[in-house]
Amino acid sequence: MPVGRTEVHKSASPRASPAKGALSSGVLSPFPEGWYFVASRRRLEKAKLIKKTWMGEEVVVWCDDRGVVCVSEAHCPHLGADLGPDAGGCVRDGRLVCPFHGFEYDSGGQCVANPLGPPPKAARLAVFETKEIAGLIFAWWGSGGRRPQWDLPAEELCQVGWSSPRLWTIRFPGHPQETTENSVDLAHLRYVHGYDSVSRVDPLEVDGHFLRSRFDFTTTRRIARLGRFRLSVSANALIHGLGYSFVEVREHTIGLDIRLWILASPVDGAHIDLTVVSQTGPVHSPNRPIAGLAFLPQRMRAPVINRFIAYFEKRDVLQDVPIWSRKQYRLRPRLSRADGEIMKFRAYCAQFYPEPSPAATESPVAENLEVAADRPSLDV
Ligand code: FES
Ligand SMILES: [Fe+2]
Repeated sequence: MPVGRTEVHKSASPRASPAKGALSSGVLSPFPEGWYFVASRRRLEKAKLIKKTWMGEEVVVWCDDRGVVCVSEAHCPHLGADLGPDAGGCVRDGRLVCPFHGFEYDSGGQCVANPLGPPPKAARLAVFETKEIAGLIFAWWGSGGRRPQWDLPAEELCQVGWSSPRLWTIRFPGHPQETTENSVDLAHLRYVHGYDSVSRVDPLEVDGHFLRSRFDFTTTRRIARLGRFRLSVSANALIHGLGYSFVEVREHTIGLDIRLWILASPVDGAHIDLTVVSQTGPVHSPNRPIAGLAFLPQRMRAPVINRFIAYFEKRDVLQDVPIWSRKQYRLRPRLSRADGEIMKFRAYCAQFYPEPSPAATESPVAENLEVAADRPSLDV
């Protein structure tokens, strides 16, 4: 949802409990606190240095010789040059090199070399904390620049026999809370996506920053040359804040395990980048014979099926996008019994909009710039 869009409500529902902080005004802050996707390691290895707008900040992403990823502000603390590749910034010998005077930065953001003299100690980039899951790189966005308040899941996902993840990103006017809300909005699964027999398995489970939404449904999918399938699906959506939704999918008719990530990253306060990642597990012996699949070597089956999964996920997202990109946030939605636990979800979301403390600055970058202004780097 674009910044500043407000809802006008004439009467207050006594049943609706207003959320705290940024939500109470009827405006969703565009940058809720949390972990947000930045780039895949695969793309980073190819590009070496990426510049992008993320959470309203221009950032650069790169990694050093040991593979340690750095996400930092995109302008040099020395005299402000743009560090992105289009401006001449580059990664050399595992360091980020500024195109203006050649200062070199390590993956912690510290200036460690200056071609014209000793590196100034005060020359330090504001860096964001990062985490990596299955080759997906996330960075922490803290309200007022505060440190991570929780971790993303630490356990390694087994990759044996799984296809490599397929990524697809679309940018549109939107908000991560609105896209995440679809995981609990069971009514839309039927109406927008045409799923049948949608049923909640358990009540929503909320534990701090974590929310689980489990539901079953059936749907019919036509897979070219493989046939038409009535699919029976169990979905287990594991949500760790508004930037990280991971869905474990078990398809019972064929017998597939699928991993989906739905990753919404605010861009500029009005748009989000929604990245959908799919990965299919090993297909040993399908529950139902699939013409053509038996002729494929086993190692090829998961990647082939994953192509279809990615296609169907893209199709689903494209059904949602026209709605997401035009909807208004209703602080007090007039809900029906069929909607599911939307207000419970919204109460969960309130924690991602903490009231800023009076001392807090707008972002880690702004904070860093203030510190730099207090202590100009004169030790060149
Ligand atoms: S502006 Fe980057 S080294 Fe001078
Ligand atoms: Fe949807």
